[in-house]
Amino acid sequence: MKKVLVLYYSQSGQLKSVMDKIVAPLIQCGHVQCDYRNIEPQTPYPYPWPFYAFFNVFPEAVFLDGCPVEQVDADKEYDLIILGYTSWFLSPSIPVTGFLQSEQAKQLFKGKPVVTVIACRDMWLIAQEKMKSLLTDLGAHLIDNVVLTDQGKSLYSFVTTPRWLLTGKKDAFWFFPRAGVHKNEITATSRFGDRLCNALQNDEERSNLPLLRNMAAVSVNGKLIATEQIAHRSFLIWSKLIKKAGPQGSRGRNIVITIYAFFLLTLILTVVPLNMLIRKLISPFRKKALDKAVSYYEQPSGR
Ligand SMILES: Cc1cc2nc3c(=O)[nH]c(=O)nc-3n(C[C@H](O)[C@H](O)[C@H](O)COP(=O)(O)O)c2cc1C
Repeated sequence: MKKVLVLYYSQSGQLKSVMDKIVAPLIQCGHVQCDYRNIEPQTPYPYPWPFYAFFNVFPEAVFLDGCPVEQVDADKEYDLIILGYTSWFLSPSIPVTGFLQSEQAKQLFKGKPVVTVIACRDMWLIAQEKMKSLLTDLGAHLIDNVVLTDQGKSLYSFVTTPRWLLTGKKDAFWFFPRAGVHKNEITATSRFGDRLCNALQNDEERSNLPLLRNMAAVSVNGKLIATEQIAHRSFLIWSKLIKKAGPQGSRGRNIVITIYAFFLLTLILTVVPLNMLIRKLISPFRKKALDKAVSYYEQPSGR
């Protein structure tokens, strides 16, 4: 009997619905014991988010200051760990970071093959780089990465995702599509569960090589690579400023957050589209470098 530990943290239940689909075939196949656990922060985060609460967690997310989390009910040894997380400010969500920094994670993850599953707006590349370093610190082996992103073009989800997170409203409106990942995409993730089932039956997870290749597990949007890298650099600067202004919820922090929110909005309305346009114009001349970057970020699973 193979043992699989599935961990996730989801606020609205979207990531949970993805994990449910992946886990279902594992629960059904007779040769796998699947322990399916929710990561719980000791102090819950709000959802929908009040505006200032949302931006108050920005520096902690960026600097990987994980929050205290409850221990999960788990055995000592697993053959495979599947870790579902969302991206918060280009970083793994704070509860998931908190879990990966816990004593329990040190015992669970050491030497284990790990499949990460991400469901986010569409900016996860830097978050996954940070995830890789957290997993390396634990001595775990990242063997696969499955990524689902919100439906509609990036410019639309700049509006639909924050609206959803700040109000709880997910419906389509005006010319904007519904917020979140398309339900057909979520349903289709059961293929990964099927594949993992077979792989476990054949001991393939022991090789620490990808199990989900050629399954469209991930598709990197090359146009967003530079945007993420630039945004991350600015996030590091602003996170320092916001942290220096005071602890979470303090007046000082909220003042700097207000200035930052205006800055961010201006950036989104000006620099982001301009950067995308410039990238599009120079892309024929940078094709080789771009293809290389896309293929790097699509590892280990690839398309
Ligand atoms: C505080 C916060 C910051 C977020 N930052 C990002 C981000 O940088 N990139 C991104 O693609 N999505 C971002 N999201 C969206 C989440 O990744 C995710 O899609 C959404 O929170 C729904 O996940 P759920 O399953 O927890 O409800 C952010 C969400 C929150 C709450």
